[in-house]
Amino acid sequence: MAEKKYGHFDDANREYVITDPKTPWPWINYLGNEDFFSLISNTAGGYSFYKDAKFRRITRYRYNGVPMDNGGRYFYIKDGDTVWNPGWKPCKTPLDSYECRHGMNYTRITGSKNGVEASVLFFVPLHTWAEVQKMTLKNQTEEVKTLKVFSFAEWCLWNAATDMENFQRNFSTGEVEVEGSTIYHKTEYRERRNHYAFYTVNTEIQGYDTDRESFIGLYNEFSEPEAVMEGKPRNSFAHGWSPIASHYIEVTLQPGESRDLIFLLGYVENEQDKKFSAKKVINKEKAHQLIAKFDTTEKVDAAFAELNQYWDNLLNIFTVKSGNDKLDRMVNIWNQYQCMITFCMSRSASFFESGIGRGMGFRDSNQDLVGFVHQIPTRARQRIIDIASTQFPDGGCYHQYQPLTKRGNNDIGGGFNDDPCWLIFGTVAYIKETGDFSILAEQVPFDNQPGTEVSLFEHLKISMNHVINNLGPHKLPLIGRADWNDCLNLNCFSWDPNESFQTTENKGEGSKAESLMIAGLFVVTGKDYVALCKQLAKEAMESKEGEIAGLAEEDYLTEAERMQQAVDEMNEAVKKHGWDGEWFLRAYDFFGNKIGSDENEEGKIFIESQGWCTMAGIGLEEGLCDKALDSSKKRLECEHGMVLNNPAYTTYHVEMGEISSYPEGYKENAGIFCHNNPWVIIGETVAGRGNDAWSHYTKILPSYVEEKYQTLHKVEPYVNCQMVAGKDAAKPGEGKNSWLTGTAAWMWYTVSEFILGIKPDYEGLLIDPCLPSTAKEYEVTRKFRGGEYHITVKNPSGNQKGVKQITVDGTPISGTIVPCSEGKHEVVVEM
Ligand code: BGC
Repeated sequence: MAEKKYGHFDDANREYVITDPKTPWPWINYLGNEDFFSLISNTAGGYSFYKDAKFRRITRYRYNGVPMDNGGRYFYIKDGDTVWNPGWKPCKTPLDSYECRHGMNYTRITGSKNGVEASVLFFVPLHTWAEVQKMTLKNQTEEVKTLKVFSFAEWCLWNAATDMENFQRNFSTGEVEVEGSTIYHKTEYRERRNHYAFYTVNTEIQGYDTDRESFIGLYNEFSEPEAVMEGKPRNSFAHGWSPIASHYIEVTLQPGESRDLIFLLGYVENEQDKKFSAKKVINKEKAHQLIAKFDTTEKVDAAFAELNQYWDNLLNIFTVKSGNDKLDRMVNIWNQYQCMITFCMSRSASFFESGIGRGMGFRDSNQDLVGFVHQIPTRARQRIIDIASTQFPDGGCYHQYQPLTKRGNNDIGGGFNDDPCWLIFGTVAYIKETGDFSILAEQVPFDNQPGTEVSLFEHLKISMNHVINNLGPHKLPLIGRADWNDCLNLNCFSWDPNESFQTTENKGEGSKAESLMIAGLFVVTGKDYVALCKQLAKEAMESKEGEIAGLAEEDYLTEAERMQQAVDEMNEAVKKHGWDGEWFLRAYDFFGNKIGSDENEEGKIFIESQGWCTMAGIGLEEGLCDKALDSSKKRLECEHGMVLNNPAYTTYHVEMGEISSYPEGYKENAGIFCHNNPWVIIGETVAGRGNDAWSHYTKILPSYVEEKYQTLHKVEPYVNCQMVAGKDAAKPGEGKNSWLTGTAAWMWYTVSEFILGIKPDYEGLLIDPCLPSTAKEYEVTRKFRGGEYHITVKNPSGNQKGVKQITVDGTPISGTIVPCSEGKHEVVVEM
């Protein structure tokens, strides 16, 4: 029997089309890409915020709501006795037709009932602090239709955390104003806030509500608001309790007639001395200006066209034509889109991340960078500087920071010893993409303290030093609170359920806990750092001023030598103390016992060290990489991808921390943590094993497992999720934590640079594909530093790796780097 399908890809429009509102989980999309953001599910659930999902939440959402999905921008249409929503929820009145199209930063939801179609286009125009909701109502019958339309949004009292807990205060603070068709939310504006929100519609209204209880009615739900059911707005005015915004509009449509209503949910900030226009009356000047920008269909359509153009430009920087739709749609559309979303959100706001718990991660954001640096390099530059500004003078850093304040998050603090290395990873990616070495001369503070600034290059240097200065008894990096695996807490030793695994170090003093993951990461980023220093020496020599970031040629060469030695030593330490016989060990625990060894009963092998040590090519010549990769295939792989560790831990190990707190097969305890599958895939490409790389890659590529997503994975079939339950789980194959995951950037990095093999480098594009033998030819168009390269890779004999010859505009070049030059170029690569 064919499995149920909830939707399908529409590549020509770059959309995923959902045809049944009852998806297994809410399938969401993101609106906005700069300051104003919204999450929107396929039934119009979700919320909006300005910059920071915790501190500047505009509309309210109810957590623990997957899959209930309660709270959103709802339109109620009352047609006679029937009340329905174009997105099916919250009334859940059966619709005659339903479709939700999630596109690039927009969503269009269309429903119809009894001959009326309502189609709502949701988007945040570029550079705008507002969400546009353009509703088109169509009368498809032969009769005149008289409809009562109610809009609905519920305000959040700005701080999403206190909004959910401080009711003794919250129930008394709410304040609103109503002016014409606009409802203003101004809670706390009377005191320290200088911002308000509004919800408006571009037509006269026949009524409104701003108080939730008046609108919904006592003991009612969103699905049956009393005002709507009776077809009578209350014209209520909120004083405290829960302020909302609802417009009431009477619409008469002749047979065949259609009409647009444009709703705008906006956010405004005023200067301190311009907050009020009269006593207690907010200054609405900026709101009026904003409203005037989107008050006609023409203006909204033009803004929508602009947004689409923006995405055309972003997605035209790298395109592949492989003859394989499943690959092309992920590379050309969805993978790049997901990267942009993770850039904007880090791990803060999704239907699995509450927007309250986490800000921007230090390691997360650096990794995310490789996913979008080719599209928006200037924003990548700023991101690097923001991240580096949360570093401490010894090279350690805050694990997270808040996007609104850009300050390190004290609740979590630092002490994650992989964090510093990622700064090198992100910065090198930026420079290779742009050729902009000047970023290294930027003066960047420590812990955001003015007066402490040093060059970004100095930050990179101390990042490397942080690893070197924190080595354990085997000369391997000490792990600290945790490395990439936040749940391998080797110094935590917690028996108290109220302690956080991440921030607790009950032991620490004298710890021998070392990480092979950081060792591999150090070798990879250390080599990058050495290459950067050598390049800087060259640049310093060539440039007239004789220096970049304040150092002279010799200084960079000395620095390169110093770090090369550290890298070599690490390499040796891994071979000597980190090799278990068939694979790389994962760690040494507090006492110096092995983790991830055949000697262990559970957790014999871990994915992270196999990934990083093979990416680093440690022991490549001696065959260690091949062995480690074979072992990964044998022990970690299953139908849905590679699990994190095997066998799963069946009991809690106090010496290991959170990892063993999860039931078998979930999350860091042997789940398929999609994020680190690409590490092994890249390792495969380093070893030249294209068939294996491809097979691992397609196992977690959404388009390849689309059918599975519909019923088994359950999460959105157009993006990767963080975790798929592993082979030891009660429900193997079930996906969780969709959207915000480093998987997006790693999948992109893997396919663009290592499989398709188009790698930005200091002097040009390095071309070195690693392919399955079935790949005979493909084309990539890549815009890079002012040039546009149309690259055709020919692989008639089905080789997995090895470039024979490259010609640029008909002339053979030596080596594999296509040098930068402006204009259009034809590149032919023979394998
Ligand atoms: C975190 C990452 C971490 C990973 C593995 C994710 O949820 O955002 O920082 O590396 O989990 O523990």
